Amino acid sequence: MATIDKDQYIVTQEPFYQAQADEVELYTAAFDARLPVMVKGPTGCGKSRFIEYMAWKLGKPLITVACNEDMTASDLVGRYLLDAGGTRWLDGPLTVAARIGAICYLDEVVEARQDTTVVIHPLTDHRRQLPLDKKGELVDAHPDFQLVISYNPGYQSLMKDLKQSTKQRFVAFDFDYPEAELEAGIIAKETGIDIAEAAKLVKIGETARNLKGHGLDEGISTRLLVYAAQLINRGIEARAACRMALVRPITDDADIRSTLDHAIEAVFA
Ligand SMILES: Nc1ncnc2c1ncn2[C@@H]1O[C@H](COP(=O)(O)OP(=O)(O)O)[C@@H](O)[C@H]1O
Ligand SMILES: [Mg+2]
Repeated sequence: MATIDKDQYIVTQEPFYQAQADEVELYTAAFDARLPVMVKGPTGCGKSRFIEYMAWKLGKPLITVACNEDMTASDLVGRYLLDAGGTRWLDGPLTVAARIGAICYLDEVVEARQDTTVVIHPLTDHRRQLPLDKKGELVDAHPDFQLVISYNPGYQSLMKDLKQSTKQRFVAFDFDYPEAELEAGIIAKETGIDIAEAAKLVKIGETARNLKGHGLDEGISTRLLVYAAQLINRGIEARAACRMALVRPITDDADIRSTLDHAIEAVFA
């Protein structure tokens, strides 16, 4: 069997990550105990960046899988492929991670169907094993293997939620948008925009976040604030950048758009 080059999954450059509280320490302890980790929070608040940063800091390979509803257990675990030489087994990303001792990050795991999520169960308890049923192989996870999932509690319906039997296999972090000063600092550091301008973007973000549950399903993410700053950096006028990056993507409701457009005018008056 071909050996897998684990170096290709190593995060070589330090990702910029601004800690919000003691999450770096907590994660390190969870990793040392090889506990499976769940990162909860709204979209674009820094969950994926945090995991990239931790993988870099711990010097462990990182394998990220974006989950979706069409995903099957085989997409995670692996499958037989037909080629000129006959059939050949190809490990899926979860299997690769278990073999090489990577951090396996299943992004938006609730998007996957429940019959897909149960394949992670034997990896998350004392067994730390992954059965490849079709291949008839039982993979013992490498001692460094760790499973991490992300999850946006805002989107969950009863139909689409993790089962308690899955949830109770993880320790969890509650992520949220950073508080104002930290968030402005993040935008400034990430894009090079000046801090006063970044603080104005954060103000608009706050207006939208206050509308959550009053016409908006979710506030403006840190990710979108970073997008607005990138447009401003390219010479786009601030108000136009904000409308394009902060308002148009998140709602088609005329009233909400006009409320946000007004906030933009007020902040950049
Ligand atoms: N704490 C943070 N430190 C550095 N950048 C951050 C932080 N939080 C958010 N960001 C910025 O926001 C963007 C979106 O974050 P990401 O981790 O992709 O969100 P999520 O995975 O929660 O949807 C990142 O690309 C980065 O620019
Ligand atoms: Mg993400």
